[in-house]
Amino acid sequence: MFYEPTKRNHGLPHDPFKAIVAPRPIGWISSVDKSGNVNLAPYSFFNGVATFPPMVMFSSEGFKDSVANISETMEFVCNLATWDLREAMNRTSQSVARGVNDFELAALTPVASKLVKPPRVAESPCALECKATDIVRMKGADGGPRDNYVVFGEVVGIHFDEQYVRNGMLDVTAMKTIARLGYRDYSVVTELFQMTRPDEKKR
Ligand SMILES: Cc1cc2nc3c(=O)[nH]c(=O)nc-3n(C[C@H](O)[C@H](O)[C@H](O)COP(=O)(O)O)c2cc1C
Repeated sequence: MFYEPTKRNHGLPHDPFKAIVAPRPIGWISSVDKSGNVNLAPYSFFNGVATFPPMVMFSSEGFKDSVANISETMEFVCNLATWDLREAMNRTSQSVARGVNDFELAALTPVASKLVKPPRVAESPCALECKATDIVRMKGADGGPRDNYVVFGEVVGIHFDEQYVRNGMLDVTAMKTIARLGYRDYSVVTELFQMTRPDEKKR
């Protein structure tokens, strides 16, 4: 099978693209607007893009409230979405008026961050405090503007719950990190395997 996405000629009932680019980590993004109104929403076009200093990005299909807030304050927090928090995370994806507090909507507890104004999710085992560095409007292959926006940020502070540290390493299977796949599918990390790179000494 070969298809061209703009022609939608895959012949399947649903577009398989997101099932191919999967699993995707979920950046559960908290932000505030210039008046301090709090927002929280999940973004699975999200990833870490550099190690040191650590950098992350997420992409918004349309100029959504998270991007609008971050364009005003240039700060955000990425909270880790886990199996225990899956329903709350999903509730915060509802499209609500700008300024509605998603923490209240999903009965989550906001905790003050250390270095940025947006609060983090107390119930989440990890959170990345970020300063936005770039907000990029995407272009298509034809060079024309698209209604998609990528926010890049430097991670300036990291919280993690020490109960998940085993042998000096964060245990992702204990945190039960969730990820997004295609369709209505998610996955939870339950199994790990290790490989050593050919040019890497064994740790
Ligand atoms: C697991 C999950 C992942 C999502 N990923 C994205 C994404 O990558 N980009 C996007 O634009 N919307 C994504 N959405 C939808 C947004 O969360 C939703 O539009 C939300 O209302 C945006 O909130 P905001 O306007 O407060 O930023 C996702 C929803 C869910 C449940």
